Amino acid sequence: MPEFDILFRKARLIDGSGGPSREGDLGVRGDRIVAVGDAGDARADVEIDASGCVLAPGFIDAHAHDDLPLLLEPDLEAKVSQGVTTTVNGNCGFSLAPCPGDRGRPPAPLGAFTGNGKHLYASFEAYFRALDAAPGAVNSIFLVGHTTLRHAVMENFDRAATPAEVEAMCALLDRALSEGAAGLSTGLYYPPAYAAPTEEVIALARIAARHGAPYVTHMRDERDGVADSLEETFRIGREAGTAVIVSHHKCAGRDNHGRSAETLALIEGAAARQEVGLDAYPYTAASTFLVPERAAATARVVITASRPHPECSGRELAEIARDWGCSLLDAAERLAPGGAVYFDMNEDDVRRILAFPATMIGSDGLVMEAHPHPRAWGTFPRVLGRYAREEGLFSLETAVHKMTGLTASRFGITGRGVLAEGAFADLCLFDPEAIRDVADFATPKTRSAGVLGVWVNGEATWDRGKPTGARPGRALRRRMAGGVH
Ligand code: ZN
Ligand code: CU
Repeated sequence: MPEFDILFRKARLIDGSGGPSREGDLGVRGDRIVAVGDAGDARADVEIDASGCVLAPGFIDAHAHDDLPLLLEPDLEAKVSQGVTTTVNGNCGFSLAPCPGDRGRPPAPLGAFTGNGKHLYASFEAYFRALDAAPGAVNSIFLVGHTTLRHAVMENFDRAATPAEVEAMCALLDRALSEGAAGLSTGLYYPPAYAAPTEEVIALARIAARHGAPYVTHMRDERDGVADSLEETFRIGREAGTAVIVSHHKCAGRDNHGRSAETLALIEGAAARQEVGLDAYPYTAASTFLVPERAAATARVVITASRPHPECSGRELAEIARDWGCSLLDAAERLAPGGAVYFDMNEDDVRRILAFPATMIGSDGLVMEAHPHPRAWGTFPRVLGRYAREEGLFSLETAVHKMTGLTASRFGITGRGVLAEGAFADLCLFDPEAIRDVADFATPKTRSAGVLGVWVNGEATWDRGKPTGARPGRALRRRMAGGVH
């Protein structure tokens, strides 16, 4: 009987720890890595000559919104084609659970993340049951969204939650975390959460702390008030006694270009006293909902979706306004509700943030949009190809660490993000000379180059440029003892 189901020979092994790569063999049996090193004359069902190629842990997307895609488009080709094997969902305050009872239409933008509330689940138990019944091509973990909790207990969102509402949200969160949710997220920037005072979030973060789970945040302000927002985030973590993770860190708006030197120093200072993590995507353009005032004030905006004018997706706002003979603001108002890409970051900031040792890579991709930001398809190969290989911003080992081992440890995901005997066989085989993103703002739904093979729990999901159609992903639960697995 062969010793291995799959045996990779002579690969350049990058183990996810950030340490130097080495040449070696790696054997897989069932869903696990069972041997790393020299396989000698061992036999296997499938032998792969990996000479000249990198074999790394499958990438973990630290910031995803694959909640609804996992249910509706579970092949997740956008992610699989980049080498992603696990995604962290429920970010920015938006999760599909818990929301007991019929609460009516969710406030925007929660509606867009939940199929207008059709895909909300009363509890994480029910949600996990649905996920287990129809697995996706990637593993997934799930944060509990503060905005979802608000929708579950409040009618109006332009105010602080009352003590009774805070208590009800805490009870829902406590139960969700007991049932396997991986942490708490907020989207304090967005209207349905903006009126929440810091104290409301601290009360919830205390529940996360009791479960040893992190607090993850799309901060109130990523522009002029970015430093204040960081201080607010640190305070929440300190007072609640839990780790914080700053989502898609950026310094947006021309007046704030260059300020990442200041914000990263703040993060470094705080990290000396408390646990602070952050993620970022490798682009100078942001993407979110179409906010007419913001669109009118940004130098360049591309429409990614528009409910009243779907034919406009993919076009520049300025060009649409010219065709319609109206102002940018008028055009944006006519196009809303919708989505947009905002070109309002600075390349030096993006580089500095990516290179910061604590920064994890997260796509923040919206894979179901008609014309998404290319980060949905290109984030991981872009970091490996453009920033590591071409620009030499960091080593390939460091780049891989930022998308594997570092992310697994921040979110407490055990047995993944590393190449080690006994770990799950989540793997990405890529050509280090060829890997690069191909998706761009004109043609965002484009596969990257250089990703040769991807395996999830020992099963191939990507094979020489094509999806296999397999869906071996698992919905991972945080458990009181021993992290998320
Ligand atoms: Zn966000
Ligand atoms: Cu997000």
